[in-house]
Amino acid sequence: MKEGLITIAYIIASILFILSLGGLSNQETARRGNLYGILGMIIALLATAAQMSSESYPVLAAVLIPGAMIGAFVASRVQMTAMPQLVAILHSFVGLAAVLVGFATYLGKQQVQEAEKLIHLAEIYIGVCVGSVTFTGSVIAFGKLQGLITGKPLLIPGRHLINLLMLIVTVVLGVFFLRMNAPEGQNVLLFATILTGILGIHLVMAIGGADMPVVVSMLNSYSGWAAAAAGFMLSNDLLIITGALVGSSGAILSYIMCRGMNRSFISVILGGFGTEGSAAVSTTQAGQVNSITSEQAAEIISNSRSIIIVPGYGMAVAQAQYSLAEVVRILREKGTDVRFAIHPVAGRLPGHMNVLLAEANIPYDIVFEMEEINDSFKQTDTVLVIGANDIVNPSALEDPNSPIAGMPVLRVWEARNVIVMKRSMASGYAGVENPLFFKENTLMLFGDAKKVVDEIVTELRKS
Ligand code: TAP
Repeated sequence: MKEGLITIAYIIASILFILSLGGLSNQETARRGNLYGILGMIIALLATAAQMSSESYPVLAAVLIPGAMIGAFVASRVQMTAMPQLVAILHSFVGLAAVLVGFATYLGKQQVQEAEKLIHLAEIYIGVCVGSVTFTGSVIAFGKLQGLITGKPLLIPGRHLINLLMLIVTVVLGVFFLRMNAPEGQNVLLFATILTGILGIHLVMAIGGADMPVVVSMLNSYSGWAAAAAGFMLSNDLLIITGALVGSSGAILSYIMCRGMNRSFISVILGGFGTEGSAAVSTTQAGQVNSITSEQAAEIISNSRSIIIVPGYGMAVAQAQYSLAEVVRILREKGTDVRFAIHPVAGRLPGHMNVLLAEANIPYDIVFEMEEINDSFKQTDTVLVIGANDIVNPSALEDPNSPIAGMPVLRVWEARNVIVMKRSMASGYAGVENPLFFKENTLMLFGDAKKVVDEIVTELRKS
């Protein structure tokens, strides 16, 4: 009876997780998607607790309560811009958990039939190795995103060969491990854990700053597979399903992001792009920069019939979305055609801009993805670039030697006027100079995005 109820609960939780992912794929249903996820997780936790013997409850409470408190505290305090770091460190926990579950399963009482032993050992070995790569890789990704470790890729000569050797040794060790009885293979398992841990460090150390978003989603995928492997070890169907969902959605997201940056997945894994030194490769720009004041910008905006706003990381830092929403409101009341153009990797995490715009209650129907709007710049009077840089860099299309050559960008320069709001001439995340700032139709409006947008609001209200 109890078993049956738990199975039903697991099925319901699995369905809720699938609905959650479906909901999160669209802004209008994202809140509902989150609710499904929360509900699914509560059901999963309760069903798992109901499966345990009551003597285990004190141990469960001792880990669950402080864990939930720490999680709630950290999540409620994290800045939106620091989300990738938080996600990276959370992935490391999943990796570590898979390693620990693997060792505990191996060294604990083996309850498998002789015929299933090989499969069981393979589950343990794969789970521990994937968990170890995920753990160390995610810790390094956290360090890079937090600025504790340099974003510059560590490019050791012969690094691909080193990685390949580590992979081969891991596979060979795995073959030995499968032939051993527990606990004889513990040293082999330990050695494989250390080796794959070093592989995780080396893989992520070789990846440059601009590819970090893809790496985070790739580690997300690994953490899912590690969890699925833990599910096999523990014979927990829900963990297998959830792990597979996370694993495959992370892989799909990595693919979409690679496409957004025109990078192949393999070249991201092999690293090197977005180096700090790479800016030196692009042509150094010299030329005239046209700078304007907020009053002048307000006048141009006021006289424009069509406007496209391109938000980027700087808008998130400055928290300018609320003031921007006011600009949009005033302009739409006047009958101006205002739209938003969102680049797939604008900001620092997938969907970053959409979340900020939704927070400020900007209507969804004026927010467009890059492919939907990129051809509209030609017919647009004014583009407002707010704290964006790499995603509007023409050298991606015009300079084959640029480190970001081939990355699809928003072709803002095709509009009649481009007003770029940022604090200085500094480069963006990829460290690449931006020729957009020197174009004839570009007007630089220097200052903190929130401050200048507030000034524009004041001016627009006067007119
Ligand atoms: P960036 O290229 O990083 O440019 C942001 C610009 O905002 C900077 O040049 C900066 O110039 C300006 N800025 C910073 N603070 C500001 C403030 N308070 N007020 C006004 N401007 C401010 O951003 P982007 O165009 O959004 O491109 C995203 C980049 O991040 C891409 O290279 C992408 O690969 C990478 N990335 C993306 C993700 C995801 S998944 N979205 C994750 C990690 C990394 P000043 O210093 O001169 O103000």
